[in-house]
Amino acid sequence: MTINFPKNFVWGAATSGPQTEGNFHKPHQNVFDYWFATEPSAFDSGVGPDLASNFYHDYEADLALMAQAGIKGLRTSIQWTRLIDDFETGRLNPEGVAYYNRVIDAMLANGIEPYLNLHHFDLPVALYQQYGGWESKHVVDLFVTFATQCFKLFGDRVKNWYTFNEPKVVVDGQYLYGWHYPQVVDGPKAVQVAYNMNLASAKAIAVFHQYYPQPNHQIGIILNLTPAYAASDDPADVAAAEFAELWSNNLFLDPAVLGHFPEKLVTTLANDGVLWDATAEELAIIAANTVDCLGVNYYHPFRVQHPDVSPKSLQPWLPDIYFKEYEMPGRVMNVDRGWEIYPAALTDIAKNIQTNYHNIPWFISENGMGVAGEERFLDANGVVQDDYRIDFMREHLTALQKGIAAGSNCQGYFVWTAIDCWSWNHAYHNRYGLIRDEIHTQTKTLKKSAAWFNRLSATNQFE
Ligand code: GAL
Repeated sequence: MTINFPKNFVWGAATSGPQTEGNFHKPHQNVFDYWFATEPSAFDSGVGPDLASNFYHDYEADLALMAQAGIKGLRTSIQWTRLIDDFETGRLNPEGVAYYNRVIDAMLANGIEPYLNLHHFDLPVALYQQYGGWESKHVVDLFVTFATQCFKLFGDRVKNWYTFNEPKVVVDGQYLYGWHYPQVVDGPKAVQVAYNMNLASAKAIAVFHQYYPQPNHQIGIILNLTPAYAASDDPADVAAAEFAELWSNNLFLDPAVLGHFPEKLVTTLANDGVLWDATAEELAIIAANTVDCLGVNYYHPFRVQHPDVSPKSLQPWLPDIYFKEYEMPGRVMNVDRGWEIYPAALTDIAKNIQTNYHNIPWFISENGMGVAGEERFLDANGVVQDDYRIDFMREHLTALQKGIAAGSNCQGYFVWTAIDCWSWNHAYHNRYGLIRDEIHTQTKTLKKSAAWFNRLSATNQFE
């Protein structure tokens, strides 16, 4: 069977500044830089972001290799901590500006369209220390100052922009589950942070649209969607899945695309006394500045069951009072990463966007498979035989294509990632690249999946 994709479908890859560049000549630390400097043992094998995959120095050769893998669009991010010297005034760091100009020009010279994102978990730590980071509306405005500088500097060559990557992971990682510094566990703060990030996105979009009219330029947001599936048809499990969907997906998807928060979620948060602090003026900004397009990162579904104890129990407020994660027996797993593999969710996501989000143009902005110990799969010529990665992409693309055939307006697929990169506190434990990075020598070589992806990108189809 041949699986075909629409004409002009974009085949790309995604990465981020903090995971690739290395910290050369950066004027400030982001929260991860600071966390590593103060607690290196929190990182797999004690490996931090200092060198990452050395993209700062290797970008020309790296981009040439990416072009060989058939990558025609690259989504990366501009580091706030590299571009800006003074966060309050937005005064630029000249070396940072020159660096991003060089990288954008090199992308274009390699036939790779730049897709630039403005925030990939990399809040300047100083803004956390001074203001509480995303808890603060002043930081919302400082983000807009940074975004404005980016639009002005690079908008002549960059047509595709994103305000945030996975804001929900900031909420989860920094304010609920302790995955990321500052490892706060505080439900009401998490609620305010989610609101503030939605507001920051809308405010940046408002500025962007003043500078650049559509359709030549577009701005969106990148959301990790984790469709919630109930463990059973027991009404208690179904109710848990309904809340999980509102909290995990619609909390960002609805304001970004529809311009308002889901009513049911707002009612629940208000009844619980934890609703965010919002003004009518801010809500009007959110309503008026929705995204032009949507990036979807998809890795795994979210299976849930009813919580162990009633939400009415005396306990600190956390979203988890309404649901409990469910580990479905017999599920297919990416054991190295601890994520279920469930490609069919992509058909559901496609249908959801088509039906409930006015079929907005969207694309897969991340999807991929992280595997540990890939040197196991090196062949005699030093090529990683990553057939599991090819299978993973093939299955996900088949499910995606079903949604497209049914009319969903999906316009591209960006694999995570091009070159093995530094994955936050997991460091280099799992490798995701189409291109291997031998991190001790920074030697980069195409894996088997790169050849497969190159063929896919050239023919727009696979068997
Ligand atoms: C995503 C994130 C990426 C990358 C990926 C694989 O959640 O956006 O930065 O780390 O997971 O772990």
